[in-house]
Amino acid sequence: MAATKTYLTGVKPTGEPHLGNYLGALKPALEAAREYDAYYFIADYHALTTVRDPEVMRHNVRSVAATWLACGLDPERTVIYRQSDIPETFELTWILSCVTAKGLMNRAHAYKAVRDRNAAAGNADLDAGVNMGLFNYPILMAVDILIMETDLVPVGRDQAQHVEYAADIAGSFNHLFGDGYTFRIPQGVFPEGDASVLPGIDGRKMSKSYDNHIPLFLPENKLKKLIRRIPTDSTPVEAPKDPDSSVVFQLLTHFADADQVAATRKRLEAGGMGWGELKNELFEAINAEVAPMRERYEQLMAPDSELDDILAEGARRARERARRVLAQVRAAIGID
Ligand code: ADP
Ligand code: TRP
Repeated sequence: MAATKTYLTGVKPTGEPHLGNYLGALKPALEAAREYDAYYFIADYHALTTVRDPEVMRHNVRSVAATWLACGLDPERTVIYRQSDIPETFELTWILSCVTAKGLMNRAHAYKAVRDRNAAAGNADLDAGVNMGLFNYPILMAVDILIMETDLVPVGRDQAQHVEYAADIAGSFNHLFGDGYTFRIPQGVFPEGDASVLPGIDGRKMSKSYDNHIPLFLPENKLKKLIRRIPTDSTPVEAPKDPDSSVVFQLLTHFADADQVAATRKRLEAGGMGWGELKNELFEAINAEVAPMRERYEQLMAPDSELDDILAEGARRARERARRVLAQVRAAIGID
């Protein structure tokens, strides 16, 4: 039997997760974790390129970890850790910087996007607002992946280039120093199709950047209020309605079981069911799924919870692997 593949992903602690992140990323990743040797980490040093408030950083790091755990990550099976707890990462970042062409970094999408924005704004300095962390971001990400000998990296499509860069950078090192150590070449794993895209309260894809999202762990009363605020048309209660043109109904299809969805569809089409009642149904369906996780999340976020011990244990396990890889790399380059 082939050895279990190593499956690794990182999440930047830049804000509270929403229902789209839950259905599109968290839930599938937790299901996959059961079949692989899985490593999930919080990319706090990546977030430092934008997060400048220490309290926000502290809060968000714990919040990401608590979210994974509350959603069902089993820390016995899956290694969960903070990137910053693995100092070997930063040593390897220097080493791999020395085998990475600057031109490769110049072509990175995130960096190029800032330059394009500056050009469009008529700014003569195309690098305005670019810090070296943003520029070097892909190398640090490559190291996150390579130092754990990762086979598979589940990420959104927007991260595809970063995973390709990790493979490229590994290739450059292997070409130069492959007699001493060869990095495993990682592959991205991407979500398929649009079927899994959850709409936001305005009908566009749910996204923090559209401000149309429903936070995953919103307190119950706020969740109810937010759902009440989803815009609907003024069709009277008795009139037949088209379920497929209603965002509330679309959201319901992601949280209620198939029988309930079919029954609700019939009632809307027949007339007699108002938007208010549909919204109540949606609230109940979402709340039934998130309430137990919300409670666990709040326990974990308490200052003296077991969260910090879980992260410390994850770091210990991740570091064993990182130390072993770094030692081999150092020997291969002649710095040992
Ligand atoms: P946002 O658009 O809110 O900034 P991110 O781009 O940070 O979200 O997405 C993080 C992860 O959550 C990605 O893997 C992405 O595919 C998933 N995701 C985000 N929004 C949705 C959505 N509306 N439906 C399904 N998955 C989503
Ligand atoms: N860049 C990723 C994002 O913005 C986060 C990340 C950092 C990551 N290091 C990683 C993802 C390594 C996968 C593997 O979403």
